[in-house]
Amino acid sequence: MQKIIYTNNLSDAIRKLVIEFEPSSVHIITDENVKRHVLPGLGLDYNVISVNSGDSNKNIDSLSKIWSGLTEQGATRKSLAINIGGGVVTDMGGFAAATFKRGIRFINAPTTLLSAVDASVGGKTGINFNGLKNEIGVFASANAVIISTIFFSSLPQQEILSGYAEMLKHGLLSSSEEYTELLSFDITKADFESLLPLLEKSVKVKERIVDEDPYEKGLRRALNLGHTAGHAFEGLALQKGLPIPHGYAVAYGILVEMILSHTLRSFPSQELYRYAAYLKAQGYGFPDISCSDYDTLLGFMRHDKKNDTLSEINFTLLSAPGKPLIDQSASDSEIIAALDIFRDLLH
Ligand code: GLY
Repeated sequence: MQKIIYTNNLSDAIRKLVIEFEPSSVHIITDENVKRHVLPGLGLDYNVISVNSGDSNKNIDSLSKIWSGLTEQGATRKSLAINIGGGVVTDMGGFAAATFKRGIRFINAPTTLLSAVDASVGGKTGINFNGLKNEIGVFASANAVIISTIFFSSLPQQEILSGYAEMLKHGLLSSSEEYTELLSFDITKADFESLLPLLEKSVKVKERIVDEDPYEKGLRRALNLGHTAGHAFEGLALQKGLPIPHGYAVAYGILVEMILSHTLRSFPSQELYRYAAYLKAQGYGFPDISCSDYDTLLGFMRHDKKNDTLSEINFTLLSAPGKPLIDQSASDSEIIAALDIFRDLLH
């Protein structure tokens, strides 16, 4: 089980872990934005290795820079890396730590809601390679994760909505009560102190699933809810030169997969309306798609790496909130019908 600490006193939590772990040296791995805007306020006096910000820099060059930094700063097998940043930093810093001298200990301190609720927990680490996302990586769990909401007030609203979509996903996978609680929370007026307990519940959903299936052989695939259709929306938007945040794509993908759940697995129809109303009220907008995009969307879904064959598109569906069904498939005509309903519900 991963050690997960929920606190808004991040510096204190880091210092305590450093005392507990007794490392030979400590190395903060971060990006330029976090280095400039966040590190000065933390008052931590450790080595710093910083890479350029953004997913386009989650690559072998940045990784090499981190490994070189660790060598130059004298890291040994008893050293400790502390990844402070969003998902790019926690994924890439985790991979650097897991491979440096065959593995040193590391802590994740996520600074975005998306990385707090998803990327920093569960041991997936890696980089993009040859234009493919997360193509190279290993499963390696952080020795500790420190979840706090202190940075969220300076995040753009888009980033908050993006992370909240993953919380909605966890709520749907967990129970009707947890999902309903999330739909009652107005994230646009978020007071981030009251978000922390909701975030804790949400991370615990992921923890429970990952504990049961750390290497994604079965149940962990439930965490792909919303992602088959979501990745297709994300890919299409990128192709049109109008990229959308990952979490928005997931929020839309969840709705498509809820519709499929309704038509194929009796998921209650009132939940579709409730969810669509929430997305509209919170300002998720809607993706720029028409029926002329359906073939492209189906193409993206067919090439999703979760599929075992190109002939079937793999989904996680739900028979009700809290009741996920992994390894489900749908035909092209069922998916097209779901996309039609999706557009009606969101427009
Ligand atoms: N992001 C889904 C997972 O960690 O399995």
